[in-house]
Amino acid sequence: MWRADILTLYPEMFPGPLGASLSGDALARGLWSLTTHQIRDHGRGRHRAVDDTPAGGGPGMVIRADVLGEALDAVSVADDPRPRLYMSPRGRRLDQGFVRELAGGPGAVMLCGRFEGIDERVIAGRDLIEVSIGDYVLSGGELAAMVMLDACVRLLPGVMGASASGEEESFESGLLEYPHYTRPREWEGRAIPDILLSGDHGAIARWRREQALRVTRERRPDLRAASDDQPE
Ligand code: ADE
Repeated sequence: MWRADILTLYPEMFPGPLGASLSGDALARGLWSLTTHQIRDHGRGRHRAVDDTPAGGGPGMVIRADVLGEALDAVSVADDPRPRLYMSPRGRRLDQGFVRELAGGPGAVMLCGRFEGIDERVIAGRDLIEVSIGDYVLSGGELAAMVMLDACVRLLPGVMGASASGEEESFESGLLEYPHYTRPREWEGRAIPDILLSGDHGAIARWRREQALRVTRERRPDLRAASDDQPE
């Protein structure tokens, strides 16, 4: 089973959206597991303090290294084969390739930060891989962890019913997806492209590939496949 352990100050945020739909069904069917851990359980003193003022001064608060080290050690022992991820806007940007890599492994231990950040020493001291879900700043790592988990879980064996539906979608081919249509045949004066109703599967496949290339070139010329693969 693909196992996710989450360290957070807000365990009540989970499973959240992961408890519904595809990921929720997969969770109920035992295809993956989600366990949350309250970082504050390792807090210091009567108030279970987890953070302190930054060394050198400046705004905000920083989560303590000793608290996080202990919290991580309680979840993940030295021979745990799972990567330990720290959700952070400074991290390696999550993309479909990275998602595939993670989904193909045994799971993940995910640390969600709050405040200004965490003590830098924990990152090296516990081999944390920093992961960002995009170039914007969230108020904490929890939503980023959910995004990452959603993307991973749908790739696990048995999760997507018609597994073929994953292969042609955006990014799996390096291209954005071709446009989709369904009934009615005409809607508000807009018709379904004739070729899709022709029954010529070869022609339909070629049309879809051309459309995927066009959409990708127009919207995301930075995606490599858009420039690599010019149509005849
Ligand atoms: N925490 C705050 N912002 C984040 C981001 N963009 N990605 C991952 N974790 C975050």
